Amino acid sequence: MKARPIIFDTDPGIDDAAAIVIAIKDPDLDVKLLSTVGANVEVEKTCMNALRLAEFMDVDIPVAKGCGEPLMRKLRPCPEVHGVTGMDGYDFPPVTRKPLDKHAVVAMRDIIMSSEEKITLVVIGTHTNVAIMLKMYPEVKEKIEEIVTMGGALAGGNTNSTAEFNIYNDPHAADIVFKSGIPITMLGLNVTNYALIYRKEAEAIKARGGKAGEMICSLLEHYRSGSLDAGVRVHDAVAVAYMVRPDLFKTEMMPVEIALDGPAAGTTVSDFRAMESGEKKPNVKVVTEVDQEGYTQWFVDEFCRGEE
Ligand code: RIB
Ligand code: CA
Repeated sequence: MKARPIIFDTDPGIDDAAAIVIAIKDPDLDVKLLSTVGANVEVEKTCMNALRLAEFMDVDIPVAKGCGEPLMRKLRPCPEVHGVTGMDGYDFPPVTRKPLDKHAVVAMRDIIMSSEEKITLVVIGTHTNVAIMLKMYPEVKEKIEEIVTMGGALAGGNTNSTAEFNIYNDPHAADIVFKSGIPITMLGLNVTNYALIYRKEAEAIKARGGKAGEMICSLLEHYRSGSLDAGVRVHDAVAVAYMVRPDLFKTEMMPVEIALDGPAAGTTVSDFRAMESGEKKPNVKVVTEVDQEGYTQWFVDEFCRGEE
């Protein structure tokens, strides 16, 4: 089966790193670009981290530097979760590669428009780059297969009591993307908080996952979204799992709107009653359940692929 062409729009970020390494190793995916955005840490650092990952994995995947600030709000990075570098915990060799000499928005647009096949956008940071691309180059919409995004939640946030980090940081961009008419699949905290990786899996990956496995386990030791002993939330890897193992998940079409102002700005709101009454039409495929056991086994298998 031909590999599915994808572009990551990403803010590495330790869980982003796991998602990107798995996607590079998985034969069912063909990573065309790492487009970077400022979110977990500043875009200078997320771009450097994307270059580190491409060089570490020794793959010819271009990296482009994107937006450093959200459309309207002030960025609130979270070095307390990923470390000051955005990928604390592993001593990467010096980076020799450079990013493309064009903005990530232009790089994404160029790859999408020149591709024979439709491209899937895997958005695992804020939606700033994608929103600007849709406004500047609306012609890309016809060439995008789907937007698979880790973001939002059906109930409860991680940045405040209602908003998830990626949407919280740029709700206006998410609003543009969610209203674009492009097929969207949303993996929110309602599912990524329950797809946990424990020390048992990390030990297996360290023992059998080669260099990449050793690297990701070192990063996960420093990652502060849960812990290996209590279960670590590798949010962005769940978006990759959904693409290659949809059998591990349940989904439901729902109306999802983004709150844009007030204390709940950045919250993804799904109005179930308005959907039942027909007042609001579903616009997003929401991932509602994950097979936790199947996911953890998949996570280990992916890192051990080709290493034994
Ligand atoms: O809320 C989790 C999301 O925010 C993940 O994508 C993580 O990397 C951060 O960007
Ligand atoms: Ca991320």
